Amino acid sequence: MKFETPAADNPIDQLKIIGQPVSRIDGPLKTTGTAPYAYERHDVAPNAAHGFVVGATIARGRITALDTSAAEAAPGVVAVVTAANAGPLKKGNNNTALLLAGPEVEHYHQAVALVVADTFEQARAAAALVKVDYAPAEGAFDLAKAMEGAVRPEKGDGMGGAADTAVGDFHGAFAAAPVRLDATYSTPDQTHAMMEPYASTAAWDGDRLTVWTSNQMIEWGRSDLARMLGLPKDRVRLISPYIGGGFGGKLFIRADALLAALGARAAGRPVKVALHRPLIVNNTTHRPATIQRIRIGAGRDGRITAIGHKSWSGDLPGGGLETAVNQTRLLYAGAHRLTAMRLATLHLPEGNAMRAPGEAPGLMALEIAMDEMAEKLGIDPVEFRVLNDTERDPENPDRPFSQRQLVACLRLGAERFGWSRRNPKPGQVRDGDWLVGMGMAVGFRNNLLMKSGARVRLDGEGRVTVETAMTDIGTGSYTILAQTAAEMMGVGLDKVRVVLGDSSLPASCGSGGQWGANNATSGVYAACMKLREEVARTLGFNSKEAVFADGEVRAGNRAVPLAQAAGADGLTAEDTIEYGDLGKRYQQSTFAGHFVEMAVDAATGEARVRRMLAVCAAGRILNPKTARSQVIGAMTMGVGAALFEELAVDRRHGFFVNHDLAGYEVPVHADIPHQEVIFLDETDPMSSPMKAKGVGELGLCGVGAAVANALYNATGVRVRDYPITLDKYI
Ligand code: MOS
Repeated sequence: MKFETPAADNPIDQLKIIGQPVSRIDGPLKTTGTAPYAYERHDVAPNAAHGFVVGATIARGRITALDTSAAEAAPGVVAVVTAANAGPLKKGNNNTALLLAGPEVEHYHQAVALVVADTFEQARAAAALVKVDYAPAEGAFDLAKAMEGAVRPEKGDGMGGAADTAVGDFHGAFAAAPVRLDATYSTPDQTHAMMEPYASTAAWDGDRLTVWTSNQMIEWGRSDLARMLGLPKDRVRLISPYIGGGFGGKLFIRADALLAALGARAAGRPVKVALHRPLIVNNTTHRPATIQRIRIGAGRDGRITAIGHKSWSGDLPGGGLETAVNQTRLLYAGAHRLTAMRLATLHLPEGNAMRAPGEAPGLMALEIAMDEMAEKLGIDPVEFRVLNDTERDPENPDRPFSQRQLVACLRLGAERFGWSRRNPKPGQVRDGDWLVGMGMAVGFRNNLLMKSGARVRLDGEGRVTVETAMTDIGTGSYTILAQTAAEMMGVGLDKVRVVLGDSSLPASCGSGGQWGANNATSGVYAACMKLREEVARTLGFNSKEAVFADGEVRAGNRAVPLAQAAGADGLTAEDTIEYGDLGKRYQQSTFAGHFVEMAVDAATGEARVRRMLAVCAAGRILNPKTARSQVIGAMTMGVGAALFEELAVDRRHGFFVNHDLAGYEVPVHADIPHQEVIFLDETDPMSSPMKAKGVGELGLCGVGAAVANALYNATGVRVRDYPITLDKYI
């Protein structure tokens, strides 16, 4: 189905099941530990051997000798895979470095060997016997130094946009502005720190490969794994029904999947590989650090006349940018504009997507800058943002936003949070030993339209089965897809079964970039529209008049139970939602106002979050319970980004030092006593027939700056370097 705008009234708008706060269908499986994760597929591979990955101990250079004889002779060892015996391997389209190194080493903890043994302990013990000699090479590991040699990347922002944009005369307008800010901010390298490690179980049947894995994007993964191994795509099957978190780290095939496949081939039996926690940080990808210079010029009336944002980030040769200026192109008005991104070569592990890539760290800088500018102007930070709102893409004034209710988010948020009680002068409010402050920031994340397919089947007992290669990374995909099919076919949720995460099912948009909810449900919508036509045709009904409700299909004075309509063989329909150039004609985005109250111990500097509120405008909310869970989880993550999260770089040897969950701290819900989420009542008829958008990344965007601004309001110390640890403000 090609989606034509604006979306007409359709069966989804009944809102009998869509829009209800249904609990997650997979919740009991997950909370009882019975959801089958990739490393636990004893059911499909009871005789699997265990693989243990050996990571390189240099950041850059060559392997000069690799001796696996002692490991091969160790008890229980079945095979040792290295680049020397693995056969030719290609890079995946989505990988910057090879997933099995040799003889060149591109980054620290890049895999150099996989030891396969009967038990995990045997594999781990034998892995310690693999002897590798290296000739290390010099590398660049310090972004602050490497930024001088940074270049404008030829492939633009890596997502079809430009690295640089310019409108009007930024330099002239900035110089002439009566009120100016010119400040530099920095964000650190971050790791996804998902609960379930990267894990895969692989089995070969002749030249056909099946991999049970933990991957957000089944279709990309299947293509990439086939490409790495030099196999036709149809020989590879990826199965990923349950995922214990990804946050972008599992968008792409990583070493566990490739090495499990190679290990299984060498061992002649299924092999499972989990990347052990201390290996994950340096072996896989991370969110790259940024250095961001922001210049804002405004008139004394508070209207922005010039806005400039330049960002530097680094990656391995062939890698890409952290696109930290992209939201600045769209968020505020201002006639004279300049954005630029520069890429430095760093020999740290591969940088790549982490939840709201670009926008999350970009807003961490921009939204402090806006707070600083509001203070210089003597204008309330909420009013300053309202004053500079825009209804059109400020770089392309012919292009409207499909929906933009940012001002409504800010107004409602300010009212509900009690913003008027904030003292604009920092460091003034005491509660016993605590200094108390309030801060706010805007959240902004684009809404991306992606093709997505599904198949739906109606059986002779009136049950509906939905099948799509979509994934559920803990977000609630199973549940909202079931709600969609139930609404469309007029049956209860108990009549719907959803099967996900298998590349043999119709290709789906997958879970990434907060596009999963809107696009995957739209794929199911399209398939259900076809199935409804099929049902109507079978019964001789006019499909436009047929009403599907209460397990029946009705037209005129006839009512036929769906079970009967399906017949003994059942009815099946498959379709894909597609959008043409819709995403280009309208700027589609989601918006939020984030409000935070912080308390800081005046003696020790200990910082505590007291309250958080997010008001979100993100199209129709398909399930307010799962959507709220996404947003409060993201808000918690944003507190981590503001206060704790940082991969410490060893700048001599080129690796991330704190590579486990003891050294890389993240907050949990218990750290935050009060979180509230409000969704504006919105539908976006340009986003899809579902009129929905995503919220999973919006919830994170802006939170870090809201915390930073609240800390400033509490203490009077402005910190521009994340994370804001107490040594920086005490
Ligand atoms: Mo997201 S970083 O596209 O999982």
